[in-house]
Amino acid sequence: MAVHEILKMGDARLLRIARPVTEFGTPELKTLIADMFDTMKAANGAGLAAPQIGVDLRVVIFGYDRNPRYPDAPPVPPTVLINPVIEVLDGGLVEGWEGCLSVPGLRGVVARHQRLRYQGLDADGQAIDRIAEGFHARVVQHECDHLDGVLYPMRVRDFSRFGYTSVLFPELDPNADD
Ligand code: NI
Repeated sequence: MAVHEILKMGDARLLRIARPVTEFGTPELKTLIADMFDTMKAANGAGLAAPQIGVDLRVVIFGYDRNPRYPDAPPVPPTVLINPVIEVLDGGLVEGWEGCLSVPGLRGVVARHQRLRYQGLDADGQAIDRIAEGFHARVVQHECDHLDGVLYPMRVRDFSRFGYTSVLFPELDPNADD
């Protein structure tokens, strides 16, 4: 297990369409996932996508006990989601603040689908099929965007609500990033 460097916006590897995983239960895949959790925890993130550590595969992880910016959001258990597919459900779009470990020190408001179903596979190839809403749904959309080369600033529409975390949210722990 190891903490990896997280690529920052501007690195062309963050802009690729990642490749599907075809082999499950392999030591290589398990090492990748363990390293991703180590890297996410070391950076105090709520989620991480494999492209953020330079790995061109459709693998995301996420999970958190409690998010101080969304105190009412129920915790999400540590989740590995491979080759994800998102189906948008009713509920419309909702705006919310996002950050990204690949865009350190900044936050912006992004509109995301309020409710969705996500499906995919875990490290052993077992099916995952969940309904999510609110912050959980936002994290899934943000992480899956990374698999298609999309960083959240590309979805910001109102740049008056995009700026430095330390200025926008001076009360936040400067180490608490997404
Ligand atoms: Ni991100």
